[in-house]
Amino acid sequence: MNQDQLKQQAAQAALAYVNDGEVIGVGTGSTVNFFIDALAAKKDRIAGAVSSSEASTLRLEALGIEVLDLNSVGEFSVYVDGADEVNPAKHMIKGGGAALTREKIVAAVAKKFVCIVDASKQVDVMGRFPLPVEVIPMARSYVARELVKLGGDPVYREGVVTDNGNVILDVHNMKITDAVALERDINAIVGVVTNGLFAARGADHVIVGSKNGAIEL
Ligand code: 5RP
Repeated sequence: MNQDQLKQQAAQAALAYVNDGEVIGVGTGSTVNFFIDALAAKKDRIAGAVSSSEASTLRLEALGIEVLDLNSVGEFSVYVDGADEVNPAKHMIKGGGAALTREKIVAAVAKKFVCIVDASKQVDVMGRFPLPVEVIPMARSYVARELVKLGGDPVYREGVVTDNGNVILDVHNMKITDAVALERDINAIVGVVTNGLFAARGADHVIVGSKNGAIEL
């Protein structure tokens, strides 16, 4: 099985968490795209979706799934999203697709976070994948200097503007021993909008597409 087939397997298994009559939170990325495609088969049985990016909104709407404004929806049960890395504590690095801020917002409202990944995303210690940080454009150099003080090597993701009009710094070589503390410390830098550590609010369920089928951690 290739990587796309493993992603598709995890995405398909996540449909078991989609409850009839409810709103579903939808993440962003290639794995989530498989989930959106699978969700289309259930579109008449859900109350609609809350989307974490313009890209996911376009895909959902193209398949006839109604996209709701988060402000018009109360709490809902389930948010489904991919990850760039996930560790055994179900902490994640996200933001490879630059959608981290809206992803974190939608995830915060959902009661359960269901993470869907292929097996290549599983790690013991996070940090090989550069940690994305969304930054207000005028603060880019200042935030980069502060991230160096925290031990990282930030690299400006050139040519990328987030759905919120901001820029991304990808932080290489960051030693992530305490993900909850690091998430908090990076968010405390003035000019940072969000960072891609999802540790304070990690995943509740992780579904891994593997050669032995979809496995839930
Ligand atoms: C986007 C994300 C994605 O969930 C993450 O990058 C994984 O993407 P993919 O499913 O394409 O591997 O956080 O901001």
